[in-house]
Amino acid sequence: MKPKIIVTRNIPDEVESTLKEYFRVSFNREDKVFSKDILMKAMENADGILCTVTDNITDELLSLTNKKVKIIANIGVGVDHIDLQSAKRNNVIITNTPDVLTEATVDVATLLLLSVTRNAFLVEKMLRQGKWRGFSLTENLGVDVRGKILGIVGMGRIGKAFAKRAHEAFGMKVLYYNRSPVKGLPFEASVRFDLDALLEESDVISLHLSSDEGNKNFISKSRMKKIRASSFLINTSRGDVIDQTALIELLEKKKISGAGLDVFVNEPHVPHRLRHLSNVTLYPHIGSATFETRKKMGMLAVENLIAFFNEKQVINQL
Ligand code: DGY
Repeated sequence: MKPKIIVTRNIPDEVESTLKEYFRVSFNREDKVFSKDILMKAMENADGILCTVTDNITDELLSLTNKKVKIIANIGVGVDHIDLQSAKRNNVIITNTPDVLTEATVDVATLLLLSVTRNAFLVEKMLRQGKWRGFSLTENLGVDVRGKILGIVGMGRIGKAFAKRAHEAFGMKVLYYNRSPVKGLPFEASVRFDLDALLEESDVISLHLSSDEGNKNFISKSRMKKIRASSFLINTSRGDVIDQTALIELLEKKKISGAGLDVFVNEPHVPHRLRHLSNVTLYPHIGSATFETRKKMGMLAVENLIAFFNEKQVINQL
């Protein structure tokens, strides 16, 4: 008999068809986030689960006595919603989908970069409200990114790809924070071993950190004080790598020029105070949200499941 897979959210049609060829599949047609109870039943009834960032895969689920699940394939690269230590202890394989979403996420970081530095939200709102008084040589001005310093925090796949894009397409100078210099970068970049130094020097700071326990509030309230009032911040990684409340305070007091955020603490809740600021661009976690990329992510997750149940090398095991 084919192994049974439970899919926690709607997935692209092509991914669904491939999955059905290899497995008995149960779908969540309502596409509403599964409750803990439903996830518990899934852990006890399926051989594998195809999940994503909205599913909290806790130690409680992974260590269930009657657990049947042997593999959880996550559609997405970030796995902060899965207790990886517990998965190891309980012999559950976890896989993710790196690489295939890198360029799409860099596109969104680029959108945020240009949007915040050119006041895109504010000027469009003004126009839509019928308040545009006509072309002006001195109004609605933003700042150039060309020749400015981009500080990357988190020089992984996406951090590197965004740095490359910003350097090659916009002539930005790249700084990055790391414990040691990253070898073989195909563009010019300087390392800073001291995060405070990077925050002080950068005109635009872009966060690309994974949100494991060690990175929660990595950009803390006290560290944020190092950011200059003329600088901008972009976050396409996870909301909780920065102290969101402290960031809101900085933005309200204009101690930072603006922020472009695609991720938030406790999504989909976005604080009222943040939503009412004009010096921010806010997107609903759309880094990888293109038809092409979501298909690639889904297919890669399914390939991991197929490999596992055919006793082949699982491609993206964590
Ligand atoms: C990712 O791949 O980590 C995206 O943020 C969606 O989870």
